[in-house]
Amino acid sequence: MDYTRIRIEPLSPALGAEVSGVDLSGTLDDTLIAELRHAFLTHLVIFFRDQSLSPDRFLAFARCMGEPSEYPMVKGLDGYPEITEVIKKENERVNFGGIWHSDTTYLEKPPMGTMLLAREVPPVGGDTLFANMFLAYESLSPGLQRLLDGLTAINTSDKDIAAATRADRVRDRPGGSGQTVNSAEHPIVRTHPETGRKALYINPGHTVRIAGFSEQESAPILEYLYAQQIRVEFTCRFRWRVGSLAFWDNRAAQHYPLNDYHGYRRAMQRITLAGDRPR
Ligand code: SIN
Repeated sequence: MDYTRIRIEPLSPALGAEVSGVDLSGTLDDTLIAELRHAFLTHLVIFFRDQSLSPDRFLAFARCMGEPSEYPMVKGLDGYPEITEVIKKENERVNFGGIWHSDTTYLEKPPMGTMLLAREVPPVGGDTLFANMFLAYESLSPGLQRLLDGLTAINTSDKDIAAATRADRVRDRPGGSGQTVNSAEHPIVRTHPETGRKALYINPGHTVRIAGFSEQESAPILEYLYAQQIRVEFTCRFRWRVGSLAFWDNRAAQHYPLNDYHGYRRAMQRITLAGDRPR
């Protein structure tokens, strides 16, 4: 596509692009939305700078791109249940979601995408890394691809390593099903519903085992795949400023927020967009 309304600067060959020339607080017409959607599908995560968005305008932009949904674990902002605060306070040591993952894959229909808007950032640190799950799948041998193509995996919301990263926020503002364990079985290799490309769809935050295998049997296979998923050449890294907004494709990218800014507050607002059942 030849972009006529936005400028695109890729962050790395693998994924990620900074989009400029757009003010997301204004009305977005169909051409602009189509260009943003194309950039999102091409680069898997797109970034905007210097956006001044009230919660209403943030939600309005999210509605241009999909259907905002509520996060089950933590109650949203008062009056804006679809906006979740992702905060690490000055006195805390654990950061929300501080492990490689794609969002809420323990749901039957995990979000298709997530938007994250920076409200307060540390002077340095707190960057977020992203990784391309198409490249992770395509890097595997044909034999392993064939084996994985037929398998599914179990994802749960109570895997200790991920549950610990949200415990502070669940305690502050428990969400509707914050106390319930959610589990879902999804294909290990999912076909992207819009591009048809195959992505490796397991993640260390929520995947516990391959269906039909014990956890012990699954572990060495999953560990091998987790390492493939985050090979440095499949990643990009984003440095936040106040007013930066990231919008990632949760079907094809994983993310990892760095926890290297103890003593400083980082406050973000997040909206997830409803997705389909992975196939
Ligand atoms: C998340 O996993 O949604 C949080 C990502 C971040 O804080 O950068």
